[in-house]
Amino acid sequence: MSSCKHKLHTLLPSQILSSCGVGGGCTGEMRAHQAKQLNCGITIPNLGFGTYSFENDRDTTELAIQMALEMGYRHFDTAKIYGSEPAVGTALRGAILDGRVERNDIFVTSKLWGSDHHDPVSALKQTLRNLEMEYVDMYLVHWPVKLKPWAVCAVPREDEFEPLDLETTWAGMEKCFEMGLCRGIGVSNFSCRKIQQLLDFASVPPAVNQVELHPVWRQTKLRQFCGELGIHVSAYSPLGAPGNCWGSNAVVENPTIQSIALKHGATPAQVSHSSPITAIPLSNTLESVKVALQWGLSTEASVIVKSFNQERMKENMGALDLRLDDYDLLEIEKMEERKIMRGEFLVNDTTSPYKTIQDLWDDEI
Ligand SMILES: NC(=O)c1ccc[n+]([C@@H]2O[C@H](COP(=O)([O-])OP(=O)(O)OC[C@H]3O[C@@H](n4cnc5c(N)ncnc54)[C@H](OP(=O)(O)O)[C@@H]3O)[C@@H](O)[C@H]2O)c1
Repeated sequence: MSSCKHKLHTLLPSQILSSCGVGGGCTGEMRAHQAKQLNCGITIPNLGFGTYSFENDRDTTELAIQMALEMGYRHFDTAKIYGSEPAVGTALRGAILDGRVERNDIFVTSKLWGSDHHDPVSALKQTLRNLEMEYVDMYLVHWPVKLKPWAVCAVPREDEFEPLDLETTWAGMEKCFEMGLCRGIGVSNFSCRKIQQLLDFASVPPAVNQVELHPVWRQTKLRQFCGELGIHVSAYSPLGAPGNCWGSNAVVENPTIQSIALKHGATPAQVSHSSPITAIPLSNTLESVKVALQWGLSTEASVIVKSFNQERMKENMGALDLRLDDYDLLEIEKMEERKIMRGEFLVNDTTSPYKTIQDLWDDEI
């Protein structure tokens, strides 16, 4: 097994950077700038801003990013398949040109879609044209799935899959890195087993594995595995994607999360001052959200949350000020687990290399 060389990248706690020192005195905004060191030599902000929206309305996305920048978010997560790259680019470029932020102070992630595994360099160049940027900070293989070059829908047709050729795809990703088109390369939705396979031939190890991570899907084995190899875990759907067509209220409505939320001071008054949340009717949703996000941060992951609603964006930032105690963390460890983004749309009996969900996740589900 050739992955031992990569263990050198494991981080010491002292390497976890902070912009305002350890302990109190930080506001949520200041904490959002805090960052974790990656094995490629750059840092990733603790709290990121997701830009996947089913509506994919360009003006709404742009406005949300402008508000997020004002509030202190510095990591913006996009992907070719989200269709949000142009809006992300316009909003960020505007802020850079106005002098409100410097390019060095923001972190942009984008992702290689399955139909671009044939040519990651061309795909990333197109992403950079969409963003009107010279580089992205992180470029991820979105899924361990290769598709026909013409497959451009988020849900591929049954006949659009090709056998995964990770070695060739990763060589293309390494080329992107060598060319300076990105400052780091990584993966998303990779099991421990697929990371292991990748490390057997990788010259540049992945810096990040972006995966579903929240109190109802805690990824204990994967976090430990990645931690030992110095691969940073980034959490997507940290709230379980409530309100998304494939998402769930299972995280924010979980009784354990709600009781921890109550303990940390949700009051009906606090809730009534926030904007209405139609998808989640329970009264202490506000603090439940903070508990879920803070749990993610407590795992040493960076957390990417999406809200295009100004009030909820602020609430989510407020999670950085919440402190969970050992009892809270133990209670969360006892919670029943359930993966929400299962990836059924990538499984079929004909052209997909994954005949079952277990194949896709290598039985790590
Ligand atoms: N790599 C991958 O395969 C992958 C997969 C999924 C997601 N992602 C990335 O991760 C990001 C975040 O994940 P996600 O969007 O799936 O899920 P999420 O952040 O867990 O949840 C987003 C949903 O929660 C709502 N929400 C946000 N804050 C809230 C609050 N304080 N109270 C109540 N509801 C709230 C949002 O609605 P409003 O906007 O109306 O507030 C939205 O419907 C995505 O945008 C994307 O960038 C990556």
